[in-house]
Amino acid sequence: MAGVLWKLEPATAAKHRLYKRYLDAWWPKMLQPTAEGYRRPRVTYVDAFAGPGRYLRGEEGSPVFVLDRLLHHRAADRMLLTRDRVKLIFVEKDKARFEHLQGELTARFGDLAALPVTVVLRRGEAAALTLQLLGETGAWEHPILAVFDSWGNVNVPLNPVIAQIARNPSSEVVVTFGPNWFNRRESEDPDQFDAVFGGRRFWQEASQGDRPSDRWQTWLNAYRSALRRAGFTFQLQFKVVPGSGQPLYLVFGTKHRSGVEARSSMSSMRSSKPARMAMKLSTRASTNRWVSQMGSSADLVPASYLRRTADTAGIVSRWMVTRKRSE
Ligand SMILES: C[S@@+](CC[C@H](N)C(=O)[O-])C[C@H]1O[C@@H](n2cnc3c(N)ncnc32)[C@H](O)[C@@H]1O
Repeated sequence: MAGVLWKLEPATAAKHRLYKRYLDAWWPKMLQPTAEGYRRPRVTYVDAFAGPGRYLRGEEGSPVFVLDRLLHHRAADRMLLTRDRVKLIFVEKDKARFEHLQGELTARFGDLAALPVTVVLRRGEAAALTLQLLGETGAWEHPILAVFDSWGNVNVPLNPVIAQIARNPSSEVVVTFGPNWFNRRESEDPDQFDAVFGGRRFWQEASQGDRPSDRWQTWLNAYRSALRRAGFTFQLQFKVVPGSGQPLYLVFGTKHRSGVEARSSMSSMRSSKPARMAMKLSTRASTNRWVSQMGSSADLVPASYLRRTADTAGIVSRWMVTRKRSE
């Protein structure tokens, strides 16, 4: 069991790089006025497993770097940041980590009530608080990006939490699966899996088949199917493979159409060290298959594709394309 802070694992560091690139593109896309002058009235970001805001050797945790990069974004003056328009919600269950996060945010950003965006920091259960806080902040009917970055357990119920976000316009989720997730199944509570996958029949097969070494793939397939049933047309799956240490898995749920384009456009990418990403994308219309491996050779993606990447899957792929140049 980790203490209040813990060591930043290589896969987590790689995951953070993905979050940074992704959000650097997501915020201006959501917040800048369109060419026609339309401004979204509200945009909400949720980090439901926020952590303490720092790692043992001083590296920043996700709430700290997400807020920092938003406030200091090079397009910040075009994003029309106001407290009413931009909301960030951070939930952490553990008391000591929650208090640590509170201290980190205040030390870094000063009085949170004086920031040009609203930061909601709440101690408690992600599953219980996510919908409640989305309601309290007036997030519904406007874009939401919700990150569920738990450790071993993905303990966020498909219904109603994930499904309600899936029904909301222009909204998406990112769910991470740590390495332990695929090893400790037998000792877990089956009722909890029922909630995560939306019913026993949707996960029982995954718990039985395959050699242990292949089991993660079956579980992720089951989870992508769950996201699809919840209402996300596209499910993008990332395997973060660090140069050392255990891999991490991320699943994106989105409803944007260009995920299909991303699949075909990225098939030319190759892998690289130290943090290699492999992505799998599935839609209702396509079979599940690995579609790309990405890394420092990612700028092989055709420029014509970049011009068409107007939505989330595009942002994800653009992150992969631009990573080499910007880091
Ligand atoms: C993987 S860490 C989060 C790391 C953080 N997102 C980052 O990238 O820096 C998971 C965190 O979720 C917290 N946690 C565990 N179960 C939770 C729950 N049911 N609701 C909210 N937080 C929870 C843990 O205390 C831990 O701090």
